[in-house]
Amino acid sequence: MKGVILAGGTGSRLFPLTKVTNKHLLPVYDRPMIYHPIQALVNADVRDIMIVTGGENAGDFLRLLGSGSQFGLQHLNYAYQEKPGGIAQALALAEHFVGNEKFVVALGDNIIQKSIRAAAQAFERQPEGAKILLAEVENPRSYGIARIEGNAVVEIIEKPSDPPSNFAVIGTYFYNADVFKIIRTLKPSGRGELEITDVNNEYLRRGTLTFEFLDGWWADCGESIPWLLRANNLVARDGANNTG
Ligand code: G1P
Repeated sequence: MKGVILAGGTGSRLFPLTKVTNKHLLPVYDRPMIYHPIQALVNADVRDIMIVTGGENAGDFLRLLGSGSQFGLQHLNYAYQEKPGGIAQALALAEHFVGNEKFVVALGDNIIQKSIRAAAQAFERQPEGAKILLAEVENPRSYGIARIEGNAVVEIIEKPSDPPSNFAVIGTYFYNADVFKIIRTLKPSGRGELEITDVNNEYLRRGTLTFEFLDGWWADCGESIPWLLRANNLVARDGANNTG
């Protein structure tokens, strides 16, 4: 399976740490943030990755990561996002790279304690559609949140003021190539972005969205400086992307 890592955006919630560099180049414990999602994908047997980034630090990703051989990657590809327009808009830049295959998308600022390998294997067996992962959080107003009825996710609401649950849709998404057709139908949200939550809701409407609850901790380093600190401490204590 191929992988796409999204590493653009302005990192405004981490200002001024992101004033002169890209959020995904900041350290999380002993390595730059972007190393963590790369390792997560490598541990799930992904060997062909595209990084989508933008802004003034795009060249730093090339200097830092090069060919990706240090991670055992077969191919490391790059795409440039001219201006921040949301996760779904950034993902659209990977269409040519992905072709008609199923693939995994990782937000470059999300760090997961445990391996996503089993979820990737489950998605390989899934005939069509998409898969999302849910993690229980204390601050549901910061994320895409699932409304759960019985055993089903019935709706995902982006940054709800009145959260229907504490289960956040984390930034690891599995898609088939339909995702690119779906993105072409999206309209910008209130924050002027093409929202990944709208993509996931479309798969829900089609009845082809599966989900799993995440085992272990999850941290969105971009949420705030306190969360970035927390991610550092969690990685120092437990490591990340553990294969066990
Ligand atoms: C994005 C998504 C949100 C998701 C979160 C995970 O939020 O829009 O649905 O829960 O990533 O990190 P953003 O970081 O763009 O605010």
